[in-house]
Amino acid sequence: MLELKNVYKSYGEGGQQQSVLEDVSVVFDDNQFIALLGKSGSGKSTILNILSGLDCPDKGSVIFSGKSLYDRLDSELSQIRRIYFGFIFQSFNLLSNLTAYENIEYPLYLLKLSSTERRRRTLDILDHLQLTQFQHKLPGQLSGGQRQRVAIGRALVKSPKYIFADEPTANLDEKTGHEIIELIKEMQKYYGTTIIYVTHDSEITEVADKCLFLTNRKIEKYVHP
Ligand SMILES: Nc1ncnc2c1ncn2[C@@H]1O[C@H](COP(=O)(O)OP(=O)(O)OP(=O)(O)O)[C@@H](O)[C@H]1O
Ligand SMILES: [Mg+2]
Repeated sequence: MLELKNVYKSYGEGGQQQSVLEDVSVVFDDNQFIALLGKSGSGKSTILNILSGLDCPDKGSVIFSGKSLYDRLDSELSQIRRIYFGFIFQSFNLLSNLTAYENIEYPLYLLKLSSTERRRRTLDILDHLQLTQFQHKLPGQLSGGQRQRVAIGRALVKSPKYIFADEPTANLDEKTGHEIIELIKEMQKYYGTTIIYVTHDSEITEVADKCLFLTNRKIEKYVHP
């Protein structure tokens, strides 16, 4: 379980200081598709950064597995991120000199898994994502939708507990965007991971288990029926 507890965050100094989050508390349960919605500049990416160990709150805490995330040693925090957290970005962020196969396999190297296990998991996920025929291609030789499928594979291959997705369909056309949302949802259920999915797109309410709306520095909770 991951939890934000009375989190405050502001940017800037002195009179220029701008408060982004004020007393935000949310519990992120296991095995859920959670949508985080809000206007541009409302603090969605800030919340993802705080939850994923990249940006410390000014006040309040992030609880992971019963213990505060930012009270741990740097090495422990890096290890948590490596094992339990995955990321999907708007701009894919693939390694351009690695093939689709190698991009997906890469996180398993960092976890020092055996070559047999790495191969088994990578081939399995390539098959799930219908990318087997593109496995030897470089990102530059793939379409946007195919690149995002590779990025989904890279995020999921280690079966992380949480995936943080920041507007993963923003650079795709509408049809491809819908396909990617459906695919992320399907994979989330299959791998039993929790996805925290940031978007502007209110259509996400159709697929999410829970929707959180960020307005006026607070989270308004809305549970989909
Ligand atoms: N590192 C930073 N330094 C200063 N201000 C920041 C920083 N990061 C974010 N902000 C400010 O905090 C506010 C929230 O930013 P954030 O990126 O979280 O919004 P967002 O909801 O993700 O917006 P978008 O939908 O446009 O991506 C904005 O006003 C932004 O200018
Ligand atoms: Mg953002």
